[in-house]
Amino acid sequence: MRVLVTGAAGFIGSHLVDRLLADGHEVAGVDDLSTGRHRDEAVELWRLDVADPALAERVAAFGPEVVCHLAAQVSVRVSVGDPLADARTNVIGTANVLEAARLAGARKVVFTSSCAVYGVPDVLPVPPDAELRPASPYAASKVAGEVYARMYTALHGLDHTVLTLANVYGPRQTPEGEAGVVSIFTDALLTGRPTRVFGDGGQTRDYVYVLDVVDAFARATGDGGSGMRLNVGTGLQTTDRELHTLVAEAAGAPDDPEFAPPRLGDLPAMSIDASRTREALGWQPRTPLLEGLKATVAWARGVRPGA
Ligand SMILES: NC(=O)c1ccc[n+]([C@@H]2O[C@H](COP(=O)([O-])OP(=O)(O)OC[C@H]3O[C@@H](n4cnc5c(N)ncnc54)[C@H](O)[C@@H]3O)[C@@H](O)[C@H]2O)c1
Repeated sequence: MRVLVTGAAGFIGSHLVDRLLADGHEVAGVDDLSTGRHRDEAVELWRLDVADPALAERVAAFGPEVVCHLAAQVSVRVSVGDPLADARTNVIGTANVLEAARLAGARKVVFTSSCAVYGVPDVLPVPPDAELRPASPYAASKVAGEVYARMYTALHGLDHTVLTLANVYGPRQTPEGEAGVVSIFTDALLTGRPTRVFGDGGQTRDYVYVLDVVDAFARATGDGGSGMRLNVGTGLQTTDRELHTLVAEAAGAPDDPEFAPPRLGDLPAMSIDASRTREALGWQPRTPLLEGLKATVAWARGVRPGA
């Protein structure tokens, strides 16, 4: 089938493109290269802002059956500093992608949401029907994207699945900017720089490996998960301190972080329940954390020869 991937030059999007090509699909990508980079010259990549009105014409010319929408302003901190820029990419951009998909006669849009939409939840792991409590412009923009996707299904019959991602880690994630803590620890430990854990190290996150995440996307391009929000996570909580120990083990480095004061606004704990995702898509996470961390460290060593 023909699939369009937005954010195709990014961390998760680039792995998704690889997976879809390996599955035999015809793939095109959209990315403005604001943080992503063009890796595979063989893949058609349009350098375009997802909020650009010119998008619809390009999408119609390609004629995708499914659009996987991953392009986004991904930083919570940036969204707090400039909520309008965040909304332009994440809300207007999503509306533009949905409208382009509709005009092109696409069957389905797979929308990428974040467990940030759950805020501080009542129960862990968070079920996919939990109340949405966005606590940042970024989280609010993801909720808005979900609502737009639902509305396009109701109004136009354009099918959708929302994939709500936990903390994704793996090869190609970069430690620059707002990248995940795994790549920050990995980069620092491989280059002998100090690492920092905020607060008492007891804050928890649900770490899911990027190849498992793209497997959920690949499955969601079919009919499964129609009209649903599906969590893509392990359901397990790992504390910052435990994560440091595991990354240090994978990197063969000392497990000796510095401790810094807690950061304002950091959520205390998170994990999400993917049982509905298993029922709807037959998906489950397959990569144990230490195994995924070892693969991530091996990739990072290749990027930084000598590390
Ligand atoms: N990495 C995670 O842990 C995580 C967790 C939850 C949700 N997500 C979501 O997954 C998706 C992919 O995130 P990622 O981690 O791969 O981040 P990423 O920054 O590597 O990828 C985002 C891509 O979107 C592109 N982009 C940004 N603004 C754009 C615009 N206006 N027009 C076109 N392209 C634009 C960037 O250049 C980049 O290549 C995002 O929607 C993000 O919100 C990620």
